[in-house]
Amino acid sequence: MFDGMPHLWKKSFQTEFDGKLSFSDAEEIRRRLASDYTEDLVFMPGLVVEPASTQEVQAVLKWAHEHNVPVTPAGAMTGLSGGALPVQGGISLSTRRLNRIVNIDERNHQVVLEPGVIVQELQEAVQGCGLFYAVDPASRGSCTIGGNLAENSGGPRAVKYGVTKDWVLNLEVVLMDGTVIETGANTLKNSTGYNLTALMVGSEGTLGVITRATLKLLPWPRHTALMLVPFADAHLACRAVSEIFTQGNQPSALEFMEREAIEIAADFAGVRPPAMDEATQAHLLIEVDGFDPSELMPQLERIFPAVEACGAGEPLLAQDESAKNQLWKLRRIVGEAVKAASVYKEEDTVVPRGTLPELLEAVKGIGAKYGFESICYGHAGDGNLHVNILKRGVSEATWEQDLPVAIRSIFEKVVALGGTISGEHGIGWVQRPYMDLAFSPIELQLQRAIKAQFDPKGLLNPGKIWPMEVSKI
Ligand code: LAC
Ligand code: ZN
Repeated sequence: MFDGMPHLWKKSFQTEFDGKLSFSDAEEIRRRLASDYTEDLVFMPGLVVEPASTQEVQAVLKWAHEHNVPVTPAGAMTGLSGGALPVQGGISLSTRRLNRIVNIDERNHQVVLEPGVIVQELQEAVQGCGLFYAVDPASRGSCTIGGNLAENSGGPRAVKYGVTKDWVLNLEVVLMDGTVIETGANTLKNSTGYNLTALMVGSEGTLGVITRATLKLLPWPRHTALMLVPFADAHLACRAVSEIFTQGNQPSALEFMEREAIEIAADFAGVRPPAMDEATQAHLLIEVDGFDPSELMPQLERIFPAVEACGAGEPLLAQDESAKNQLWKLRRIVGEAVKAASVYKEEDTVVPRGTLPELLEAVKGIGAKYGFESICYGHAGDGNLHVNILKRGVSEATWEQDLPVAIRSIFEKVVALGGTISGEHGIGWVQRPYMDLAFSPIELQLQRAIKAQFDPKGLLNPGKIWPMEVSKI
């Protein structure tokens, strides 16, 4: 109806909603939602709308549905696959004002909250009641629970506690035509019908807008111990990962970092990196947790033989809270540090963790073949390796033409190893061209049919997950 004429639909929106809800077409506000953490992509929305209630979300979606205007839900824009970028323009629907923790139910270990709540605020609020929300993405200080639900975020503790989907009991969702649904029940068990809650989590805002979530909580295991274990051989560090588990251990985090990952993070943070032997190629960062400090050292001691058997050097044990925070800070900012160092592409590979050494070897081999440098780090305990491919030193022609071919061969190897193309960052905008590696034509068809059932006009977060034409409004 308004194809190519944003001034017309904006005028119509303004007439409908002026004085009734918060929206803006000021350039600096639209620019805030035009980019996320993915590469250097910029897509400007035509209008930013900030509803403050489920009813306001309903009104906006109903209007957009009637007027054929695309809507892209947006949280804190910390995504790493471009999932919240308004690639077709239209409305960016910000969850900024939907930011209330509605209820912490201590009796049932549940929390009800709105999508705009910052994850660290959620963690701290429930810790105040002795409870624990385990999912802990690197961007926890700024990312929102809505974004985590959309992308099914993970983070370091997933190795023990699982990812976002494992903590969701029930969701209130507004569909594109303005209808409100609930996907489940606030119960720990539910075998009633298809699992719409699971379908919605990780659907990247393409099926509906989550306006409220009920999450389950745990008692808070408030004590942790952390050690940084060096390896002269990065492949042996990867081998140690499965060894740790086969010997019966359950760390609360098991992270892999190539030497360059720590160095670039320390440089970015302006701190001295932990002392490293010249020969050190990689580290494992290993955390254990418990309800009593006496539970910690025995857990770490049981892990030593597994890492020693794989040639580990002397572990560095974080002696106090500040040393732990320092190590975690370095680990958390690797992604940001790489982004600051060079234009880059980030591949969120995931394989069964026993095959991590083969994955690392393949990534380095493909890098050597195509002439690119990569910095690898990530959630080794989950077999989830973030492969950051740096543009520095690579010609424009190689970057544009050869890199997609190189990435495809990395993903082919991932799939051959029994893995898949995203562990926790989603497909969003940037990984669409590789979906044929993850699914057969019939599997893709089933997934597209689900999208069509929820959003027949294709207006909600259009252009994401599935390869398709981009037309701007
Ligand atoms: C991390 C983000 C990039 O693990 O997932 O740091
Ligand atoms: Zn990660």
